[in-house]
Amino acid sequence: MYFIEFMEMNRNEQISLTEEFVKTNLKDYDSGHDWWHIERVRKLASFINEMEQLEDPFIVEITALLHDTADSKFAGEDKEQGYKLIDDFMEKSGMSDIKDRVTAVIKKVSFSSKNNREEPEDPLLWVIQDADRLDAIGAIGIARAFNYGGFRNNKIYNPAVVNSDENTGDVQESGTSSTISHFYEKLLLLKYRMNTLTAKKLAVDRHEFLELFLKQFYKEWDFGTGERL
Ligand code: ADP
Ligand code: NI
Repeated sequence: MYFIEFMEMNRNEQISLTEEFVKTNLKDYDSGHDWWHIERVRKLASFINEMEQLEDPFIVEITALLHDTADSKFAGEDKEQGYKLIDDFMEKSGMSDIKDRVTAVIKKVSFSSKNNREEPEDPLLWVIQDADRLDAIGAIGIARAFNYGGFRNNKIYNPAVVNSDENTGDVQESGTSSTISHFYEKLLLLKYRMNTLTAKKLAVDRHEFLELFLKQFYKEWDFGTGERL
């Protein structure tokens, strides 16, 4: 009883320490990777984990909090330095016991490895990856994509190249390196890449919203040149 209370107090402290660590280390990132992305992934991951009963909620929360700290896309090429920072932090905060597992999952969850179709073997990775992917689709996913596109000064849309939705076979015109093309390259595929049943269910209406958005987008784009419904 006392032991459990001590453990819980200790864990709450570790969560607060991790929140502070993450806030400090995310502050130079773009707004699609800000604290609110971390908060959303944390909530989604905790919910998925609760529904699926896969992991200790503590390790899920810690991993969700830390999952983007070493992201090289915005931190330059010093991803290894990012991992080292996480390693040191976990060690000095008394989390050596979960450190190796958490860092292994963080390394695999980055968007670059989101493309591969290999089945992730660790249930902790299933949960974090699903939560991160859910935050990339739906209304929030759209907001993040256009925010990222703006950050990179990419085109909103470039109707020069034909892209197709490999899952539905829908063919739409789209240019490379526009934000609309990112929908075909990644966002529309994410629904089919969810690991857990809970995430698959949550992905349905977010995915539909992507399709609804594209439909309306093309309708407005083609204004005066014929309907595309
Ligand atoms: P993560 O949250 O896993 O770190 P990324 O760093 O790959 O994911 O992407 C962060 C956000 O930026 C996501 O919402 C993603 O859809 C968006 N994004 C990534 N690449 C592009 C791109 N080329 N065009 C538009 N949005 C992008
Ligand atoms: Ni993320």
